[in-house]
Amino acid sequence: MDRDRRRWLAGAAVLMGGAGVAALAVPFIRSMGPSARARAAGAPVQVDFSRLEPGQQITVEWRGRPVWVMRRTKRMLARMREPEHLRRLRDPGSRVETQQPPYARNATRSIRPEIFVVIGICTHLGCVPTYRPEESPPDLGPDWIGGYFCPCHGSRFDLAGRVYKGVPAPTNLVVPPHRYLSDTVVEVGVHPQTEGG
Ligand code: FES
Repeated sequence: MDRDRRRWLAGAAVLMGGAGVAALAVPFIRSMGPSARARAAGAPVQVDFSRLEPGQQITVEWRGRPVWVMRRTKRMLARMREPEHLRRLRDPGSRVETQQPPYARNATRSIRPEIFVVIGICTHLGCVPTYRPEESPPDLGPDWIGGYFCPCHGSRFDLAGRVYKGVPAPTNLVVPPHRYLSDTVVEVGVHPQTEGG
């Protein structure tokens, strides 16, 4: 876990471009929450994603784990609903209830369809998957609509963190509790209907 954590921390606060090749420092990520020690203990983390372009994602730390906030494009939203894509997934309807809070148990696994919030830990053995938003790259094949690829043992997840059939990971990526404080700020670690977590 320590090794995985170091690895993702090195990439934290990094924004991935639509082509998956551009990595930029993100000075605009304002961590408005409490101290790092309090965050490690589980305090909520507020994320301003106002400058996140469609197709990009940012990484923040919550409870010592990476959490991704990704803004989906209209095309991503359309492709992840295609029936032939859904047939490739192990649990397209998110039947396993522990994978997400009830308000994220829907077609996009999110509160707002265009914004996806998910814990970036593979449900196989805990590696950190790689964001691969490009369609049909040579190494992932013609059926790849964009998503997350785990380099450790090859598990694949789609743009809603739903696991594909035939890979080692047993379940979808986990959606953490989260709520929106405004149009551009999401708070990770608190359910919408509660005030204190
Ligand atoms: S830890 Fe991701 S595939 Fe094994």
